Order: sequence, then C-alpha cells, then structure tokens
Amino acid sequence: MPVIELRGIKREYRMESRQGKKSKDEANAESSQEVVVRALRGVDFSAEAGEFVSVMGPSGSGKSTLMNILGCLDKPSGGTYTLDGIETSTSDSDTFAYIRNRKIGFVFQSFNLLARTTALENVELPLFYRRREKNEQPHGARDRKDRAMAALREVGLEARMDHFPSQLSGGQQQRVAIARAMVNDPAFILADEPTGNLDTGMTLEIMGLFQELNRQGKTIIMVTHEPELAVYTRRIITLRDGELVSDKRVDERRSAPDDLAQWNRDHALLADSAAGAM
Ligand SMILES: Nc1ncnc2c1ncn2[C@@H]1O[C@H](COP(=O)(O)OP(=O)(O)O)[C@@H](O)[C@H]1O
Ligand SMILES: [Mg+2]
Repeated sequence: MPVIELRGIKREYRMESRQGKKSKDEANAESSQEVVVRALRGVDFSAEAGEFVSVMGPSGSGKSTLMNILGCLDKPSGGTYTLDGIETSTSDSDTFAYIRNRKIGFVFQSFNLLARTTALENVELPLFYRRREKNEQPHGARDRKDRAMAALREVGLEARMDHFPSQLSGGQQQRVAIARAMVNDPAFILADEPTGNLDTGMTLEIMGLFQELNRQGKTIIMVTHEPELAVYTRRIITLRDGELVSDKRVDERRSAPDDLAQWNRDHALLADSAAGAM
C-alpha cells in the first residue's frame, strides 16, 4: 500500500478581480469579475514507504500548492488524497489536524525553531502538542525527553541538546528541525527547499543526512528548484502549469557524503594555495 496516493488532484483559487481603478462609487458589481487560477489540474502521484522524491518545476507551476495539499494544510478542490490508508479529502477537521500532526514531519527553508528554546526543547515540542487517539496515554516528561534525545542522536546533535538556535550553525539548526520532524515518527518527511538558506558545505551535510535517514527507511518528499540537489534523491517529479509532466527514477544517484568530502578537499587545496601565495 502506498504511503501517499493522489488521484486527480485539482486546486483552483477563485479571486475577485476588480476592473479599473477603485473610485468612491465603485460598489458596482459589474466591475468585479471572478478569476479562477487552476494551480493544479488533475495530478496523479503515489509514493511507497522508503522513497525519496524531489518535487521540481518552475516558479508558479504549483509546487507550493501541492506541498500544502500533501502536508494537509489545504484541501484540494477535486480528487482524492489517501495518506497511510486514511482518505484525507473526506475527513473532518479533527482527523485532518490529527493526520497533519502525526503523519507528517515538516522541514522548512527557514528552520522555524523557537529562539529562546534549547535544541532539546524544540524537538520535544511536537510531543507536547501531540494529538492522541482516544485510548492513547500522553507521554510523561521523562518519555518526551528520551524520545527527543533519541531524535537528536539520529541527526548527530545529541551533544548540542542544551544549545539555543543562535549558538548553532545553520546546518545544525536544520538538523534540529529534522529531529523535530521525526520525533512523532511520521509516515513521511515533507521538506520545502530545506537547504535554501545554507551554503554548499552545509547543504551537502543536510543532503547526506537525508540520504542516511532514507537508507534507514524514512520516506522523504523534498521540494527543490535546484537540479543539482535533486540528483541526491531517488525519484524526480516535475510540475508545469499545474500538471505533472515528468516522473523519473534517478539513475545515477550522487552520494552527498562523497561530494562533501570532495568539496572539503577542494577547499583545503584552495586554502593551501592561498597560504602558499603569501
Ligand atoms: N492563495 C492563492 N491565491 C490565488 N492564486 C494562487 C494562490 N497560491 C498560488 N496561486 C497561483 O497558483 C499557481 C501555482 O502557485 P504555487 O503553487 O505557489 O507555485 P510554485 O510554488 O511552483 O511557485 C500560480 O499561478 C499562483 O499565482
Ligand atoms: Mg512555491
């Protein structure tokens, strides 16, 4: 059974468009007209557990709209979305919120960590807000801490658990955000341009972490507009004008740790030759 199954997903935005300049006596219905933007025009897509998929496409092609639907932040105007066997389109708002909270781990470009809160507390946060099933017990403080520490260990940041975001590099902050995304053990991780604010070295570090988590079986969907990052994933889907126009396996997947090692060597050489020139 696929983790994600989209069938004929459509999303239309309806907007009032006012013609001409607004004047005092402009409460005139004839001068306003409804404009319909068809952001998604019937997308079929499914992903199995353990996949690592890039969502690509030019600006305006519908990536963010698709992200919002995949993330249960928005409902489609048409079509069905089944997540981990749950039909989301017909679910009530409580179920919808439960799915969002428990089934999806979000990673954003800007990390979205709480500034006055330690790495550990940031990772614990989703456990505080965890939506429970009827007969489910809440986690105790000790349990929350253990789970958050385990998640930080998975991203290699256990030693920094008492650091505040400002005491961490951008790459480390994004690792904390990834730990936070995983702490509820979601069905998949949904990452939106996760390295958009990072330099090349940190970008390769984060891509290496995603590759490692994926190797351990985590399902990852990543929106990116950079083809050189998509080659670290296993599959690339491309949107254009609200349609899925291509869906390809990555044949020669690159290894982010290898590329990071090479990048570090190149930089060491550059630093050496700069020192030698002095
Ligand atoms: N809230 C909205 N209201 C109206 N139109 C929107 C809204 N969000 C997106 N759109 C339109 O939908 C289309 C797809 O947008 P989007 O999903 O943001 O694309 P992308 O993320 O690939 O740049 C664009 O034409 C955009 O202008
Ligand atoms: Mg966008």
